[in-house]
Amino acid sequence: MKQLKLTGFVVFLSFLTEFLTLPTKPPDIDNFQVTQKFINDNIGYLTIIAFAQYVQEAAFEEVEMLVKEMMEIRDKCIADMTLPECAKLPNDVLQESLCAVEGLPQKYNFSHCCSKRDFERRHCFLYNKKVDVGFLPPFPIGDPEKKCQDYQQKKDLFLNKYLYEVARRYPFVFSPTLLTVAARFEEVAETCCEEQDIASCFRTRVAPVIQYLKKMSVYEKTVCGAFIRFGPKVFKSIYFAALSQKFPKIEFKELTSLIEEILSNYDECCEGDSVRCIRSRSKVMSHVCTKQDSISSKVKECCEKKIPERGECIINSENDEKPKDLSPREAKFIDSKDVCQHRDADQENFMAEFLYEYSRRHQDLSIPEVLRIGEVYENLLEDCCRTENPPDCYGHAEEKFNETTEKSLKMVQQECECFQNLGKDDLKYHYLVKLTKMAPQLSTEELTSLSKEIVAALTMCCTQSEQFACVDNLVDLVLGGLCGVNKNRTINPAVDQCCKSSFAFRRHCFDSLKADETYVPPSTSQGLFNFHANLCHAQNGALQRKKERFLVNFVKLKPQFTDKELQSLLTDFTNMVEKCCKAEGPEACFSEEGPKLEAKSQAASQT
Ligand SMILES: *[C@@H]1O[C@H](CO)[C@@H](O)[C@H](O)[C@H]1NC(C)=O
Ligand SMILES: *[C@@H]1O[C@H](CO)[C@@H](O)[C@H](O)[C@H]1NC(C)=O
Ligand SMILES: *[C@@H]1O[C@H](CO)[C@@H](O)[C@H](O)[C@H]1NC(C)=O
Repeated sequence: MKQLKLTGFVVFLSFLTEFLTLPTKPPDIDNFQVTQKFINDNIGYLTIIAFAQYVQEAAFEEVEMLVKEMMEIRDKCIADMTLPECAKLPNDVLQESLCAVEGLPQKYNFSHCCSKRDFERRHCFLYNKKVDVGFLPPFPIGDPEKKCQDYQQKKDLFLNKYLYEVARRYPFVFSPTLLTVAARFEEVAETCCEEQDIASCFRTRVAPVIQYLKKMSVYEKTVCGAFIRFGPKVFKSIYFAALSQKFPKIEFKELTSLIEEILSNYDECCEGDSVRCIRSRSKVMSHVCTKQDSISSKVKECCEKKIPERGECIINSENDEKPKDLSPREAKFIDSKDVCQHRDADQENFMAEFLYEYSRRHQDLSIPEVLRIGEVYENLLEDCCRTENPPDCYGHAEEKFNETTEKSLKMVQQECECFQNLGKDDLKYHYLVKLTKMAPQLSTEELTSLSKEIVAALTMCCTQSEQFACVDNLVDLVLGGLCGVNKNRTINPAVDQCCKSSFAFRRHCFDSLKADETYVPPSTSQGLFNFHANLCHAQNGALQRKKERFLVNFVKLKPQFTDKELQSLLTDFTNMVEKCCKAEGPEACFSEEGPKLEAKSQAASQT
């Protein structure tokens, strides 16, 4: 049985007996069994998640068929675990089954993955995920009354469908997060379907669930993106910075072992292995919960929750208080005479400890800022340790740290001033123009969605007392999405350089970017000025979205236009819509006014 992996569908008895012969039952065993039961009970949902995330185009009926198949395999394995498929990783079984459905690989263009095996196949499926989901229809809202009927009649089907629709639109969100979202959505349905005004109940109660999903999505995407692009070193730094802020009481050694554990399992979640992600997450959280006393006083309530909420709760728990006796600065890294010797003895560990000590003392800073300080320190030592008198040299470290922080503070201040000075619409236009000029190669959908994310971040953060960390963290996450999650995107040389040169200084790099110099705009306007009467019937912000798309497409056409010229163009656009929608024959009016607008913009660009 040695060659069997312990990660299959069923709990392997050989593994269990090994542990059960120990004098006391370690909590790990309990946790392992609980997790396994959870996986077995939720294999349907986990199949939907993996399938819908890997093959986002697939129809719900196709997903349902595979769910049935996976459930059959599970039942077979529970009955007889010596069957060969029971020793395989569930994700491999799932991918094999996907490849075995007749015509499916060709229909959705993933045959090239099916001809690969093991690691390569898993990576091929990962690589196939599309961040930009513009090719999918908008999320089906549906009639609330009908929704409640469906919910009450067929709960399972209803939730399966919901999970499917969410998963295919958020292809990088981890399975525990999606399951949490589905569970919360179920609670919403449960409550709202009893209400008088079902529609308004859904509206108000679904909003925070979606907000949560979006927040977790950008976070998970960025960490995976950093992991895939920069490897384990940057990944660990992120975690040293983040967890030291969250758990400032934890000892360095304990933190190191926790982070090793997180690292050893993280790629499973990033890879989209929905089953193993649950399992590895559960192991990490069990670690945190069994050692609560030395880790954090803020996770007690979370630890009483079940999978998957337990982990989600811990991840979102507030920062613990700093230990009372924590000195304001850690002398060891600046004042000590033998910093260079310590560094040379074990550079990786030394830098990790620096991040830990700095971060737990600076809960007010953003994660990227702590990493910037780490990079500044690392570079400083690189120089100082080569000098005659290193202590004299690195004795100025704190000034350097402050310089960096001040630069970042200033950047955030400017962004928040923009937020304060411009109205909501103008702020959006500002970022649409800025991003389009910087990366005109991106699709219009992606540019509008990135701008929307930045505006949402500023709107949320600029009025908070923790403005700096909030803006810096969130806007960096948006850039993470831009740089790409599952592949090293090539957008244009300047953007690519910002994405790959330094994770910590990514924001600073983007901040100094101007319009892409390599970009060659299309030579014709490609129907941009052909307007139709449908502009008059656009409801619920649809006109606003059309206007934004028009702006982005126009900037792609004329990247040299100044903000002022663009502003005037937008005013003309609005006036034209107003005029034509009031006209006798709007269609005729548009076909007359469109070319006029185009001619005017041509004239403007020649001045
Ligand atoms: C199918 O996938 C291959 C490989 O990723 C790609 O080159 C090709 O353009 C895709 N075809 C379609 C129709 O999407
Ligand atoms: C750096 O900034 C901190 C916080 O603003 C301040 O307390 C400290 O004195 C500064 N140190 C130096 C060397 O400028
Ligand atoms: C992206 O580039 C880095 C090096 O810059 C490399 O280590 C990594 O494997 C690449 N990732 C992908 C998905 O190609």
